[in-house]
Amino acid sequence: MDLDQLAALRTPEGSAALATAAGLAGGDPLAAAARLRATGMPAELAAAALTQAELRRRAVGKFGADAAGMFLTRAGLEQATRRVVADRRAARLRAAGVRTLADLGCGLGADALAAARAGIRVYAVEADPTTAAMAAANADAAGLADLCTVECGDATAFDVTRVEAVFCDPARRKAGTGRRIFDPKSYSPPWDFVTGLAERVPYTVVKVAPGLDHALIPAGAEAEWVSVDGDLVEAALWCGRLAELRRRATLLREKERPPADASAPSTGAGHQLTGDGNAEAAVGPVRRFLYDPDPAVVRAHLVAELAGELGATLGDPTIAYLYADTAAPTPFARCLEITDVLPFSLKRLRALLRERRVGRVEILKRGSALEPEQLRRDLRLAGDAAASLVLTRVAGAPTVLVCRPVAG
Ligand SMILES: C[S@@+](CC[C@H](N)C(=O)[O-])C[C@H]1O[C@@H](n2cnc3c(N)ncnc32)[C@H](O)[C@@H]1O
Repeated sequence: MDLDQLAALRTPEGSAALATAAGLAGGDPLAAAARLRATGMPAELAAAALTQAELRRRAVGKFGADAAGMFLTRAGLEQATRRVVADRRAARLRAAGVRTLADLGCGLGADALAAARAGIRVYAVEADPTTAAMAAANADAAGLADLCTVECGDATAFDVTRVEAVFCDPARRKAGTGRRIFDPKSYSPPWDFVTGLAERVPYTVVKVAPGLDHALIPAGAEAEWVSVDGDLVEAALWCGRLAELRRRATLLREKERPPADASAPSTGAGHQLTGDGNAEAAVGPVRRFLYDPDPAVVRAHLVAELAGELGATLGDPTIAYLYADTAAPTPFARCLEITDVLPFSLKRLRALLRERRVGRVEILKRGSALEPEQLRRDLRLAGDAAASLVLTRVAGAPTVLVCRPVAG
């Protein structure tokens, strides 16, 4: 997609092409292209409209009903923040009193638009000309062009004295190849610039990969890990006046949102667990119930805080499974009842599952090198019953826990 194609899609003829393409997306791409061309549409417009329609279809999971009016690139969509996360960040900024924000490297504008929806005046900067034009078109389509302006340029040259707050979500993929970048030092804008923002702007938020090494968290920053429906999606560094504490795990839910509400802002705070990230949970024996903490809790190093809430202990100091005598409802972990604890032995496990007529298993693992799919084949399961198998170590020893869901 280039600027000319985007301009063509924004004409009345382009809108009509997009509307027709929307009805064809998701089916056979060759047949869809033939159908569009049969209406007399130029081949290039038909191809651009079909690409957009396909990307919009894929974007529904991230943006809900808004996806239908957005202009997207594949790389931009992959890197974009999901709406539930962007809305929550925007609500927190607004609650902190932020009225003007620069989004330095705005991509397609998911975060910039969320801030504008929250009533913040946003100055968005994007280096890639087509992406910048799409972000502007997205602000326009959302009726937010007055609150969100997009300029094409280098974010490092933006005069941050113009705003109260900055947000930066540096590119973690190599431009051109789309390959993931794991070392923050190779992010764009560069990591030194990104972390240096906090010294220049009193309200700074930086989105980073959830795998961020804790050693790279700037002193004094609050680091937050966010999961949506149990999937870890990002980490954010809240700096300066935005830092409220040291570590936070935020668990958001999208699946509970009724589809009719999909276009409404969801600013729910979700469930939050906080702490300093340094506490260590006590270690004890395997007990009746196993808790598998949400990945945001694990990555935020808040397993000890969760253990404290649940009266639980670790079975191994290096593995984030918790054990307790009671099953307390918690949003922060999945709870399973342990029926059997076996030192790992394929023969013994197979015999036990045969005896119980277990034909279906889910396999969870932490601290085990075993390949779940290979194990499933090796178990040669037969029967109508189901079980959860947890492959782990207890006090250093390879162990399998046979579990069932907690009733109620
Ligand atoms: C991870 S994406 C931002 C995604 C955005 N937060 C969203 O949710 O839609 C990072 C963007 O920063 C842009 N970028 C990288 N270096 C830049 C720079 N020096 N100046 C401006 N933009 C830059 C990239 O082109 C990319 O579109």
